[in-house]
Order: sequence, then C-alpha cells, then structure tokens
Amino acid sequence: MRYMREKKGLRFEDKVAIVTGGCQGIGRGCVDVLVEEGGKVAVFDIKDSVGKDLASGCHNVIYIHCDVRNDDEMKNGVQSVIQNFGKLDLLVNNAGYEHIDPVLHSLAEETPMPGHMFAWP
Ligand SMILES: NC(=O)c1ccc[n+]([C@@H]2O[C@H](COP(=O)([O-])OP(=O)(O)OC[C@H]3O[C@@H](n4cnc5c(N)ncnc54)[C@H](O)[C@@H]3O)[C@@H](O)[C@H]2O)c1
Repeated sequence: MRYMREKKGLRFEDKVAIVTGGCQGIGRGCVDVLVEEGGKVAVFDIKDSVGKDLASGCHNVIYIHCDVRNDDEMKNGVQSVIQNFGKLDLLVNNAGYEHIDPVLHSLAEETPMPGHMFAWP
C-alpha cells in the first residue's frame, strides 16, 4: 500500500489501455484509476451516451462503440486505438453482465444465510 501511494500518478504514465465495459461499474473504476495514474484509455462499450460523456470530460479518454461479441467491431476498435494513441499496452477485458440464477436466488431467500448467491455464465 505504501509503495502504491508513493507511485501515485506514475504507474500508467505513457501507457495506452482498452477497458471493455468501461462505462460503469468495475470497468469505470478501472478507467478512473488508469487515467488518475497517467494512462490513456479507450473505453469499449455499448452505452453510447454514457461513453461520449465520459470521453468529453477527459482528453485522455476516447469512447468507441464496440460490442465485444462482434469480431468486426473489436478489430475496428483496436485499429481506432492505434490511430488515436499510436500503440496499445494494456487490455482490461471486463465487459459482461451479472446473471442471477433464479434457482440459486430463490434458494438464498429460503436459507438463513445473509446476502444472496450469484452465478455468472
Ligand atoms: N459486480 C460483481 O459483483 C461481479 C462479480 C464477479 C464478476 N463480475 C463481472 O465483472 C464484470 C463487470 O461487472 P459490473 O458489476 O461492473 O457490471 P456492470 O453491469 O455494472 O457494467 C458492465 C459494463 O459492461 C458493458 N457491456 C455489457 N455487455 C457488453 C458488450 N457485449 N460489449 C461491450 N460492453 C458491454 C455495459 O454496458 C456496462 O457498461 C462483468 O463481466 C461481471 O460479470 C462482476
């Protein structure tokens, strides 16, 4: 922890990253840390209005509409990153969704355990 504090602002200096699913949640947190630490970030997501707002607020962030299930959008997206930033160093492959299994969810509600049980595909 002490090391990280001493290095704050430098860890991703001159690094270029793609964060898939960077518009919200864990991905958005990754975008914030990368930018705070000096990195440049391309957000690949499908939430266009959120992504454009995010990019308009920071010159080190670009938004690229990219559904990670679509090979052509992924290839075009990576090419756009190279065109904009000249290189690519890091990938945070985070895009996805949380699937709450209805069977496990109902089991969780019936058991005395606190919280819920989740399942991811
Ligand atoms: N939140 C948790 O507790 C948890 C736990 C384990 C794993 N995960 C996984 O971590 C990842 C992020 O979770 P989160 O809670 O931040 O999710 P979230 O729903 O808050 O955010 C997901 C982001 O991914 C984007 N996205 C979804 N499908 C996409 C696609 N096909 N192409 C491009 N972008 C897409 C969404 O638009 C959104 O911006 C997910 O893959 C999730 O399965 C989450």
